[in-house]
Amino acid sequence: ESTLGAAAAQSGRYFGTAIAGGRLGDSAYTTIANREFNSVTAENEMKIDATEPQRGQFNFTAGDRVYNWAVQNGKQVRGHTLAWHSQQPAWMQALSGSTLRQAMISHINGVMGHYKGKIAQWDVVNEAFADGPSGARRDSNLQRTGNDWIEVAFRTARAADPAAKLCYNDYNVENWTAAKTQAMYNMVKDFKQRGVPIDCVGFQSHFNEGNPYHSNFRTTLQSFAALGVDVAVTELDIQGAPSSAYAGVTNDCLAVPRCLGITVWGVRDTDSWRPEHTPLLFQGNGSKKPAYDAVLNALNSG
Ligand code: G3I
Repeated sequence: ESTLGAAAAQSGRYFGTAIAGGRLGDSAYTTIANREFNSVTAENEMKIDATEPQRGQFNFTAGDRVYNWAVQNGKQVRGHTLAWHSQQPAWMQALSGSTLRQAMISHINGVMGHYKGKIAQWDVVNEAFADGPSGARRDSNLQRTGNDWIEVAFRTARAADPAAKLCYNDYNVENWTAAKTQAMYNMVKDFKQRGVPIDCVGFQSHFNEGNPYHSNFRTTLQSFAALGVDVAVTELDIQGAPSSAYAGVTNDCLAVPRCLGITVWGVRDTDSWRPEHTPLLFQGNGSKKPAYDAVLNALNSG
């Protein structure tokens, strides 16, 4: 196959990208995005600040624009994200305790209700673990509502849209030996044992000098899959875009039957949240980088 999406589909997987709604008027951007990818994640447009700018007043204008572009072009959509310490609107940042807990529940119901039956996977909870060696939860206003906030979010999400796969999503959790990875593993294991509804784990996979790609990522994916959840690479970008690491990630996903697919966090380097890292598969001028060929070749050989 000659595109990433079609090549991934040979094994029943998808190859997706983050889409920025503000770039949908750029035909060079949409030409590549439409040609190469068969799954879409809204880079910012389905986040809390975008979808509920005022408490109880939902706004799906930007989210629907990305959603409609994806579906009109035959792509599946990953929903990102419902409960997160970051990109909270000011009104939510100001809440705490049971009021915030209720606002989180209402937010999940409002957004998932709007997209009910339309989203393949939702990142229900994003980035709830602390960085570093502690293995602790991240301190946040949501965490301070009580340690059960994550399972409450997942139970709420299951009821709101039973058709969506419900994912926990985080970064710097690709290296199997990292404390953060082990903490996330223990949470998922506990959730599966206690029947908390979780279907998938998203590994953001923002690789750079501080969090380099390591070949034990495959062990991580296999270990989580063995708990009975699907896994996905949800926000892939790699500083400098080395072909070896891009091929490694691709082969790691292909090696794990429960790896649903790979999403890169942008189309061209100039679309990246870290453009100075040139971490993506296309140059700013739209030409394919060596990493593109490495990924396509891995998908076609797998
Ligand atoms: O839209 C406003 C614009 O009106 C304003 O003039 C401008 C000035 O700063 O800001 C614009 O909003 C920016 C938004 O991206 C859209 O471009 C925000 O400042 C900026 O903070 C925001 O950054 C996003 C970041 O999440 C915020 O946390 C990045 O685009 C997005 O790629 C990034 O994505 C996250 C994932 O959601 C979660 N995992 C990590 C990943 C990378 O940080």
